[in-house]
Amino acid sequence: MPLLDPARLKDRLGPFAGRFDVDALDLCDSTSSELMRRSARNVPSGSVVVADRQSAGRGRRGRSWLSDPDAGLTFSLLWKFAGPPARLAGLSLAVGVALALALEDLGVAGVRLKWPNDVLLGEAKLAGVLVELASDRQGVQAVIGIGLNLRAPVAAGLDRPAAGLEAVLLPVPDRHDVLAALLVRLAGVFDAFAVDGFAGQKSAWMARHAWQDQPVSVAAEGESPRAGTCRGVDDDGALLLDTASGWVRIYAGDVSLRRA
Ligand code: ATP
Ligand code: BTN
Repeated sequence: MPLLDPARLKDRLGPFAGRFDVDALDLCDSTSSELMRRSARNVPSGSVVVADRQSAGRGRRGRSWLSDPDAGLTFSLLWKFAGPPARLAGLSLAVGVALALALEDLGVAGVRLKWPNDVLLGEAKLAGVLVELASDRQGVQAVIGIGLNLRAPVAAGLDRPAAGLEAVLLPVPDRHDVLAALLVRLAGVFDAFAVDGFAGQKSAWMARHAWQDQPVSVAAEGESPRAGTCRGVDDDGALLLDTASGWVRIYAGDVSLRRA
């Protein structure tokens, strides 16, 4: 039986229970791949796939997401938005805001956001967000994959430090409480996002921005890195980089942000 019991989760979701349809699996390749396949069969907005174990959990650009069943929470959520894909600019940053708010609801202090899609404790990555889109005539379906460490992974092969909730919250809340807190905040942020886009979340994102006014470098695959000072984000979620030749906007795409 999977560690997560949808009936127990439903109790924790209270008035939000009707907005989600949760399926819990022992194992899948990737909850995002699984939900993407289900989205082709037109499953409803609010569908969630949570898995104890992923054989091919992934981050951006094919990087791996590593997690052990009892050490993490790995799930994906399908959300349908009206309008063209351009309306979803900044969605992955808005997801970061929802995660930060939920973790704060649970009593975690010091949650910080790193552009575009990481949730940090100090300099270490606590959670990652992967947003993938599919559009049709009705609008856009976003599959939002989230990996959150309850305990920091001990696995070799991580290129940057990782953090777990247990470093800042003991005892670590039951996974049903954690997932319910995340889903409730995600629904609230998506409702607001559907009206105002990322602009309505920008100040909450900026208040938690990990590297504000810090020297950074931005590297796109196969190009030489651009150096500058990180000035936060604009209403579309683009990174504002203050360079020797002026401010430039950087869109998430295939770039990596690192400390200089
Ligand atoms: P970028 O800044 O380019 O987005 P990133 O390091 O955040 O870089 P992603 O592809 O967004 O890269 O995320 C995947 C990365 O997350 C992997 O390269 C791996 O180093 C790291 N990672 C994998 N599993 C975990 C985990 N459980 N906890 C923290 N970090 C992890
Ligand atoms: C990142 O940091 O780049 C994103 C990591 C996202 C990992 C989650 S785990 C649940 C979902 N399924 C996946 O294969 N990836 C996301």
